[in-house]
Amino acid sequence: MSMTSSAIRNAFLDYFASKGHQIVPSASLIPGNDATLLFTNAGMVPFKDVFLGQDPRSYSRATSAQRCVRAGGKHNDLENVGYTARHHTFFEMLGNFSFGDYFKQEAIVYAWEFLTKELCLPAEKLLVTVYASDDEAFDIWTKQIGVAPEKVIRIGDNKGAPYASDNFWAMGDTGPCGPCTEVFYDHGEHIWGGPPGSPEEDGDRFIEIWNIVFMQFNRHADGRMEPLPKPSVDTGMGLERIAAILQGVHSNYEIDTFQALIAAAAEVTGAKDLSNKSLRVIADHIRSCAFLMVDGVQPSNEGRGYVLRRIIRRAVRHGHQLGAVGAFFHKLVPALVVQMGEAYPELAAKQAVIEKLLRIEEEQFGKTLQRGLSMLQEALQQLDGKILPGDLVFKLYDTYGFPVDLTNDVAREQGFTVDQAGFDAEMAQQRQRAQQASQFGMDYNAQLSSKQVTDFTGYQHVHGNAKVQEILRDGKACQQLNDGEEALVILNQTPFYAESGGQIGDTGSLTLADGSVFRVTDTIKLGKAHAHKGKLKGQLMVGAEVQAQIDEARRQAIRQNHSATHLVHAALRAVLGEHVTQKGSLVGPDRFRFDFSHYEAISATQLQAVEVLVNQHIQANHPVQTELMNLEAAKAAGAMALFGEKYDDDVRVLTMSPFSVELCGGTHVNSTGDIGLFKIVSEGGIAAGVRRIEAMTGMQALSWLHQLEQQAQGVATAVKGDLFSIAERVQQSLERSRQLEKDLDQLKQKLASQAGSSLLEQVQLIAGSKVLITELPQVEAKALRTMLDELKNKLGSGVLLLATVNEGKISLIAGVTQDLTAKVHAGKLVGWAAEQLGGKGGGRPDMAQAGGINTDALPSVLQQAAALVEQQLSA
Ligand code: ALA
Repeated sequence: MSMTSSAIRNAFLDYFASKGHQIVPSASLIPGNDATLLFTNAGMVPFKDVFLGQDPRSYSRATSAQRCVRAGGKHNDLENVGYTARHHTFFEMLGNFSFGDYFKQEAIVYAWEFLTKELCLPAEKLLVTVYASDDEAFDIWTKQIGVAPEKVIRIGDNKGAPYASDNFWAMGDTGPCGPCTEVFYDHGEHIWGGPPGSPEEDGDRFIEIWNIVFMQFNRHADGRMEPLPKPSVDTGMGLERIAAILQGVHSNYEIDTFQALIAAAAEVTGAKDLSNKSLRVIADHIRSCAFLMVDGVQPSNEGRGYVLRRIIRRAVRHGHQLGAVGAFFHKLVPALVVQMGEAYPELAAKQAVIEKLLRIEEEQFGKTLQRGLSMLQEALQQLDGKILPGDLVFKLYDTYGFPVDLTNDVAREQGFTVDQAGFDAEMAQQRQRAQQASQFGMDYNAQLSSKQVTDFTGYQHVHGNAKVQEILRDGKACQQLNDGEEALVILNQTPFYAESGGQIGDTGSLTLADGSVFRVTDTIKLGKAHAHKGKLKGQLMVGAEVQAQIDEARRQAIRQNHSATHLVHAALRAVLGEHVTQKGSLVGPDRFRFDFSHYEAISATQLQAVEVLVNQHIQANHPVQTELMNLEAAKAAGAMALFGEKYDDDVRVLTMSPFSVELCGGTHVNSTGDIGLFKIVSEGGIAAGVRRIEAMTGMQALSWLHQLEQQAQGVATAVKGDLFSIAERVQQSLERSRQLEKDLDQLKQKLASQAGSSLLEQVQLIAGSKVLITELPQVEAKALRTMLDELKNKLGSGVLLLATVNEGKISLIAGVTQDLTAKVHAGKLVGWAAEQLGGKGGGRPDMAQAGGINTDALPSVLQQAAALVEQQLSA
């Protein structure tokens, strides 16, 4: 039975729906709120917390076709792609899940029924593995399903540690895991390979198609295996592998989806041989790259973004190997949309921005690719052994942007390996250098910690009573602080905001009943405590009651700026596109900055549109609402969370009309109108793909505009115009001065040439030749050259040595007409003179220039030069 990939996907979901499973759409490739995983690498990832009993759902059976990426992290197939028939960086996993509902029995029955009845696979082609000690699964397969016992292979902990087995599956180093049973398909004797557990198991004959995991444990970082609340089931079948079987082909790369992508790749690279492995690499990589971008990853130098960059660069290199000229990779996106856009509408929706980001990344890498490759090629040819040294691999990385796996890829094709340890050592050194370079002074926070918990009252209040819980002086706890001492003071409750989320800490004062005052210059977070940093006038003890008062005006300015960052974020997304995400911010009282991802320069018109949009929302005077809610609920409500940021379970959601909904713990204005005015004061790129806006609000923005106006008024007065005609006036004035410069130049040349004519009178006849050796009054060095050429022309034949002094420096120029260069060498003449004058120089036999400093000696040196020339001419 032949089925398309889409038909198989639908058949699978329909089958399990008919068995009471909820069809759940594919989740993002970026695991939500999970720092332990780089990418969604299996169908169960979105259900991780459901297995752990921490995320109750309305259903206990689910089925999905989940997009997965296995590149980087525990399950990493990047370097196998192109070399085997069945590895991918991106693939789709079909799965059915039981959350404490059915267990081994039904899971096995469903799998067998789907394979043999729905897909009609011949039972004799299938064989099975079970975890060595799992008699229960063994019995279900042999006694109930009727698989011959010799076709049910027990696989133990054959990888040297407890649970280290192909039949014990774990998502990562920690998290849900359990023993599994796997179904294999025999592609036939004509293909090399042996059954699982045999020495030839890595061959391509027996291919694993379905993994059924009996989720039973939660593995902890210390190795402890905690039983799950309820035994569960997690299964996974690679869509591409099952499609290969049903379409009667052996390699995944021969299935419908890949054939289309490979044909497209051949077209954009100009490759003729469709079986070339580089085409497979490219067809695989366009899928992972495009889908990572769908889920918000952008190429960068760290984390997920760096994995994406590595995959793109690997694809680009393979394209160039096929002869592609210029950027080609992004041109595959339309073909991918044809293949997968229907199953994944989010792909089609972001097609344009994906194409653009890919093109930019390709072009950037294209600039260094060839040079890096030639360097690598040269190095490989000169290498003694078969190992490419780490420092070279590092240089390729550092200078040419070659990720290690790319270098490895090239090296491997020619039978070399890479000295990974050597490379790692170079990287470590570089990190250390970077760290040292950034270590100015001491890091206050790194040294300190506190176990106190401060209650923050500053959302509602700007002052209030509090009790001193702890005093840290020079990093150590003390009971009492004396007059003039500096310290960190921790209170039980405080209206002082401690620096976090980009908003800087509050300043103000802590006042005691006896008149002592602790002046607070900053507030920082130490764990859950707010630490007030400052200096004391008077006496302060632990346990004392203080009146805490923040600088209200400063806080108000900070609130205006912080609320404006949210509006800017939303406005940038509206104007530039949804790919814009916040990369960082710093919110102070005078101005704020906002860093965000964007791949190209922003035009003045776009910037203005952002300003207008933000000011419109300020004028609309939306109430600023905050609400505490559960993180999942917040996300479901569309709140923007920062990519990769870790949030508590309960989060604060800040809403300004539907325009801006974000998670935020900062302090804000009551309604957007309080921001008053918003003005961008600068914009520019700060790193590849990251830009920064600096802006001001309220009275600060007004005062900035006043300063600007004052400057402009100054210019207007100077050019005798008004504010709205300065551009024109300045333009006119610049044109005038350009014209004047031109006139002046012409005049100077004319003068020089006239001076040249009068100089002719000083020409002497020496040994039958015309000789002119003289000092000129202050001629510009540039003009000397023109004069010399003119004089040579006028003399027809002769020797010239001209000198002039400008601001204490002597310029010399010598010229000899061709007929005399055999006798007098201009370069040598000028060189000799320069040496006498404390300088250096020389040049061609017919023309040479030099300089000197010894102005007093000039007249006598010129006399000596005349004698020298006479000698040479008469020789
Ligand atoms: N989670 C299992 C796997 O990825 C099914 O193989």
